[in-house]
Amino acid sequence: MNLDALIDILPKTELHLHIEGTLEPEMMLALATRNGIELPYASVAEVRAAYEFNNLQDFLDVYYQGMSVLIEERDFYDLTWAYLEKVHGQGVRHVEIFFDPQAHMERGVAFETALGGITSALETAHKEMGMSSKLIMCFLRHLPEEAAFEALKCACKHKEHIFGVGLDSSEAGRPPELFSRVFAEARAQGFVPVAHAGEEGPAAYVTTALDDLKVQRVDHGNRAFEDPALIARMVRDQTPLTMCPLSNLRLRGIESLDQHPIKKALQAGLLATVNSDDPSYFGGYVNDNYKQVAKAVGLDANEIVQLAKNSFVASFIPDDDKQKGLDAIDNCVNHAKV
Ligand code: HPA
Ligand code: ZN
Repeated sequence: MNLDALIDILPKTELHLHIEGTLEPEMMLALATRNGIELPYASVAEVRAAYEFNNLQDFLDVYYQGMSVLIEERDFYDLTWAYLEKVHGQGVRHVEIFFDPQAHMERGVAFETALGGITSALETAHKEMGMSSKLIMCFLRHLPEEAAFEALKCACKHKEHIFGVGLDSSEAGRPPELFSRVFAEARAQGFVPVAHAGEEGPAAYVTTALDDLKVQRVDHGNRAFEDPALIARMVRDQTPLTMCPLSNLRLRGIESLDQHPIKKALQAGLLATVNSDDPSYFGGYVNDNYKQVAKAVGLDANEIVQLAKNSFVASFIPDDDKQKGLDAIDNCVNHAKV
C-alpha cells in the first residue's frame, strides 16, 4: 500500500485546529451575503489571493478579518459542521479544537453565540458520526490580561462544554508568563492548560509555558530544538507537541517543507503529532499535512503509524479510549498488510 493510501485510512485524532481557521472562502462570501457584512473581496479567487503570508501577524490580520462574517449561532454551527464532516472522511475519530471567543466578543458577538453553535455541531457529530471532541478556549495574547480574565469568567459558566484553555495569536514579544495569573485561575477552575509556544517565539517561551502556565501540551514548539536540555526534558516527560507542517511553511517558520522538524522530533523520542492549525488558510487539512510532510522529509510507514498512534496518546481522552484508538490503528495496519 502506498503511503498516501495508508494516511487516508489510518484512524487518528486532530489536536491543533482553530475552528475559525476552517472558514473556506466560499463560506466566507456566503456568510458575508447572509449577514450583510462588507468584505474587501469580490470573489473566491480574490480571497485566496490574499492568503500570501510573510509571518504569523500577516496571517492573523487576514484571519481576524475573515471571521467578521461569523455573526449568528448558525454561522458557528455551519462552520464547525463543515470541518467535522470533512475530517470524518479522513479517518479522524476525535478532535480537540480551539476557539477564540475574545475575537468575537470584541466585535459584539456574544460568547454564548459562538459557543452554542460550535457545541451543537460537536454534539451532532458525536450522535451522527461517532466522533468525540473536546473544546479548548484560547486567550488572545495580543490583548491584555484583563480581557483574558473576562473570557475566563464567561467560560466558568459553561464548564460542561469547555475542557481546556489555550494561548494563541501574536507570539513575538508576548511571553507566556504574561498570562501566569489567568492560567493559575483557569487551572484552579478545572480547565486543562495548553499554549502555543515556540512557533515564532524562542525556546524560552516553551520553557515558561511549561513552568509558569503548567501546560500539559505544547502547540507547535518548533523552536524548542534550539535548547537541547528542553528537548531532553520533553522527551523524559513525554510532553505532547502538536506540530503543524503546512502552517509552519505558509507562515515562513521554515523555508521549505523538507526543513520541518517532525522526523527529528520522532527520532528524538518526542510525543509529536501532525495537525492542520488553520486548514483553510494554509492549504490543507490534516491528511494533507501528513502526506506533504511525509514526502518532504521522507517518513516511512512505521513513522506515519507512530504519528497516528501519538495523536491518541497525546489527546485528553481517557486511557481506555486511547487504547481503543491504538487497537484500531493496529487492526487497520494488519488489514492493510503494511
Ligand atoms: N498561531 C497563533 N495564533 C493563531 C494561529 C496560529 O497559527 N491560528 C489562529 N490563531
Ligand atoms: Zn495554532
